[in-house]
Amino acid sequence: MMGRLVFVTGAAGYVGSHCVLEFLVNGYDVIVIDNLVNCVITDGNELPESLIRVQHLTGKKIKQFIDGDLRDSHLLDSIFANNDIDVVIHFAGLKAVGESIDKPLLYYDNNIIGTINLLKTMKKYKVDKLVFSSSSTVYGEPEQLPITEHFPTGQNCTNPYGRTKYMLEEIMKDVCRASPDWSIISLRYFNPVGAHFSGDIGEQPNGEPKNLMPYITQVAVGVRQELKVFGNDYKTSDGTCIRDYLHIEDLAVGHLKAIDKIYNNNFPGFHAINLGTGRGYTVLEVIRAFEVATGVKVPYKIVGRRPGDACAVYADARLAQEVLEWKATRGLQDMCSSAWKWQQKNPNGYRSKINIVQILLSKL
Ligand code: WQD
Repeated sequence: MMGRLVFVTGAAGYVGSHCVLEFLVNGYDVIVIDNLVNCVITDGNELPESLIRVQHLTGKKIKQFIDGDLRDSHLLDSIFANNDIDVVIHFAGLKAVGESIDKPLLYYDNNIIGTINLLKTMKKYKVDKLVFSSSSTVYGEPEQLPITEHFPTGQNCTNPYGRTKYMLEEIMKDVCRASPDWSIISLRYFNPVGAHFSGDIGEQPNGEPKNLMPYITQVAVGVRQELKVFGNDYKTSDGTCIRDYLHIEDLAVGHLKAIDKIYNNNFPGFHAINLGTGRGYTVLEVIRAFEVATGVKVPYKIVGRRPGDACAVYADARLAQEVLEWKATRGLQDMCSSAWKWQQKNPNGYRSKINIVQILLSKL
């Protein structure tokens, strides 16, 4: 696949970095843009730390890194004018559910305006192939399980973050109706967790983790005292919520399959595809799996429910297998052990000790 150039937005983040690694390993040329809102560039380096490590792990170079924002239309124009882009993979977007409730306009401006800018520039330069990072939150609280791609979306999203994903899918559907040559694959992630098997790249939450797995690993490594389990009075086997956890490396392969599909086959139109395992686990089952996989005890306390949480969410994963010839291969134990390996090797995430001191000093 030499000479096939992909443009990856938000490439330095957790999902983006794991996907860029997969694209490089499989012979794609990659140019990336990131506004660095969720990542760090350590002193004297040109690239975010996550992408420096991706280059080390693959022995390949990213063709170009642009420190920039999708809302800068001049910057986007120059990128497309100077590169013969084949496919765009769009990760860039704010994704903290709780923050989106507090700051809706920040989310609509960043996620919606940024994406519209990207789509307009693609149209101007006749780039009509897009893989979009969507989310299972577009389904809201499902009426039945497992969730298929035909379920209604946008009806009861519980937060502005989920609504931006729903709105962007609707915008993309309209673009495909108006321009039938366009191919858009919208990958609806369930719960990506874990890390690359090397333990050198992984998830670095900003501040206190909002998601379950990074919170568990920070308790296990001693950065946090105990895990709060949000409610055990749900109608599930042990009263705690069920989610479809998906290994980040399986998720990355799913993106590679989507690019291959959209590039190699005539696949016009808008296609939403679930990326999940088809299997759900409760919070307590995840805690137990982590303790078995790592031998480390995770102290926890049952507290009240978290507003907006659905009782149970897991995917019908058949369409991805039919259309992309993709299915998840890694189990919950591997998800837990890889997350733990990342956390152990990187107790401060990508921040070097110096950065930590700088951050602490900046707060004085
Ligand atoms: C999972 C379960 C919590 C933390 C969100 C987004 C989704 C995707 C993944 C972006 C729930 C419980 C959690 C904790 C807990 N992000 N939990 N204690 O909410 O399913 O999905 O993140 O695409 O779009 O909506 O993931 O990891 O926050 O929660 O008990 O400290 O763990 O109640 O049942 P969620 P999560």
